[in-house]
Amino acid sequence: MTARLRLGVNIDHVATVRNARGGDHPDPVRAAQIVADVGGDGITAHLREDRRHIRDEDLVRIQAATDLPLNLEMAATDEMVAIALRHRPHAVCIVPERREERTTEGGLDAAGQHNRLAPIVARLIDAGIRVSLFIAPEPRQIDAAIRLRAPVVELHTGEYAHASGDAVAFELQRISNMAALAAHNGIEPHAGHGLTFDNVQPVAAIAQLAELNIGHYLIGEAIFTGLADAVRRMRDLMDAAR
Ligand code: PXP
Repeated sequence: MTARLRLGVNIDHVATVRNARGGDHPDPVRAAQIVADVGGDGITAHLREDRRHIRDEDLVRIQAATDLPLNLEMAATDEMVAIALRHRPHAVCIVPERREERTTEGGLDAAGQHNRLAPIVARLIDAGIRVSLFIAPEPRQIDAAIRLRAPVVELHTGEYAHASGDAVAFELQRISNMAALAAHNGIEPHAGHGLTFDNVQPVAAIAQLAELNIGHYLIGEAIFTGLADAVRRMRDLMDAAR
């Protein structure tokens, strides 16, 4: 039997709604507690440079409120490295970040930025933080992750999620091939971005994947059914696919 696939729930958009009114409701900490209660395996939060959703103090409160591992998504900047070293999350996922983007639109160019990333990855690993690189499912990016000694890669599933027709199978195959290549080289493959109830199962069926990180769709569904139901249903679909 294939090992259980972990579900990390990205709660950024609870903070997006909170920040729309400048108060403290809805609180991403309450979302983290619900995720913990219904069997989520981790909390993912992206501390963006412009603090448009999650804020520094949210990290402290999330870490205090649940025992779930915190996966901090962040850009490879000195400011973010200092924050990660201060908060010591279980994991850091290094993502590319552009101020003008609405979400993380593409993968990190680990291949093109080796010299900049190498000291950052090493510092975080030395601090005992599990480092992941959010990369496109491409062989050159896996090669770069191997050279950077990253223990984890998160494969960007956005192209798959947005594909239609024959492109869906093509994109899925790329993810599957790169998950296998990563695992073959001792790197734990994860995946995420744009996953929904309708498209999660073919990804969840990829045996080498150890974790999926899902945010926007779950928080959107939570408006209609509540967060607990949304997370439970995603969990059930993932388990059924294995
Ligand atoms: N993984 C990473 C590294 C991300 O940056 C994001 C989006 O913030 C996700 C997973 C979740 O993507 P989505 O919100 O589309 O489910």
